[in-house]
Amino acid sequence: MENEKLLTIINNLEEKLIEVRHNFHKHPELSNEEFETTKTLRNLLNEAKIRVLDLPLATGLVAEITGNKEGPIIAIRGDIDALPIIEETDFEYKSQVLGKMHACGHDFHTTAILGAAYLLKQQESTLCGTVRFIFQPAEEKGHGAEEILVTGALSGVGAIFGLHSAPDLEVGSLGTNVGPLTAAVDRFEIEIEGLGTHASSPEKGIDPVIVAAHIVTALQTIVSRNVSAFDQALVSVTQLKSGNTWNVIPTKAYIEGTVRTLKKETREFIPKKMQQKIKGMADSFGAKAELKWYPGPPATNNSEEWTAVALEVAKEQEYEIKGVPPSLGGEDFAYYQEQIPGVFVNIGTGLSYSLHHPKFTVDDAAILPSANYFTKLARRALVILTEKR
Ligand code: NI
Repeated sequence: MENEKLLTIINNLEEKLIEVRHNFHKHPELSNEEFETTKTLRNLLNEAKIRVLDLPLATGLVAEITGNKEGPIIAIRGDIDALPIIEETDFEYKSQVLGKMHACGHDFHTTAILGAAYLLKQQESTLCGTVRFIFQPAEEKGHGAEEILVTGALSGVGAIFGLHSAPDLEVGSLGTNVGPLTAAVDRFEIEIEGLGTHASSPEKGIDPVIVAAHIVTALQTIVSRNVSAFDQALVSVTQLKSGNTWNVIPTKAYIEGTVRTLKKETREFIPKKMQQKIKGMADSFGAKAELKWYPGPPATNNSEEWTAVALEVAKEQEYEIKGVPPSLGGEDFAYYQEQIPGVFVNIGTGLSYSLHHPKFTVDDAAILPSANYFTKLARRALVILTEKR
């Protein structure tokens, strides 16, 4: 056999993947700083003779395995970045970089997808198309998917698949749903301008603290009074700042927060309603207020067809299927799904502290089954797309 290195890897696949994950876990890198992670991945792919596409990406990479050149193309995505968190576990492989941690399981995602790449490389000659492996940077910042999309690496891709570790599911279980699994995540800022004055003569000024307080309260009525109770959405004010001493009524106030929605119409409606409330409140006090809107990723949107396929393959692999309600967290995989039909699944990584917690953990036993799962799913997807041609 020509590719002896690959054979050695496949023969000890679980051991190899665990070692790879522990290594990533020890050396976490933040969004857009995944230089060493990318280098390591490139080396791992190179040694198995898996082709890495030549793309203008500072971090992250896309690899490709082709059986039949004329066949369809599918993509599998794993994200590679870590978080600015001080790890509090006792593992021998705990983060060696103070203040950085793989606390969202992206080291697990990366390794599972790498495992699928090894397995599909071994099966290359029997593949009826092409599989692209996206090792995506900067998921935590919410724009890594766009960085991949602008390279054109996904042109011609007929279906896309992605995963997230689920610390509330046992190893051996998997959950997904048709439609949104994660929410659209938008950020907002509100700048309020009143008129500063001495605290003893408020009638000579316009108090932005009072305006801000009314705006915060008014915003809280949008979800409760203007959105159907059957629709999931939230408006959270997470920062409120004004003034810096006790005897001065300040000039300005600042509000920041986030809006989470699952439906497109609700996502469009809420900022309009916010705008109306903010203006109405500010006007009534004679203040000025400006809403600034920073759109993040849309809601994920699992297609009916690919969700059914993902669940079918999961059952064949004896995953226990769990119903998972949509979360109001964000996932930039949604950007891919705006252009390519696909499915995002949650894979049980053993009960642990929540995602982004300093004691979050992933059970290594989840890695190999996930690699096998994406291998089968990729093969199945290629067959389905081939039949449609
Ligand atoms: Ni994550």
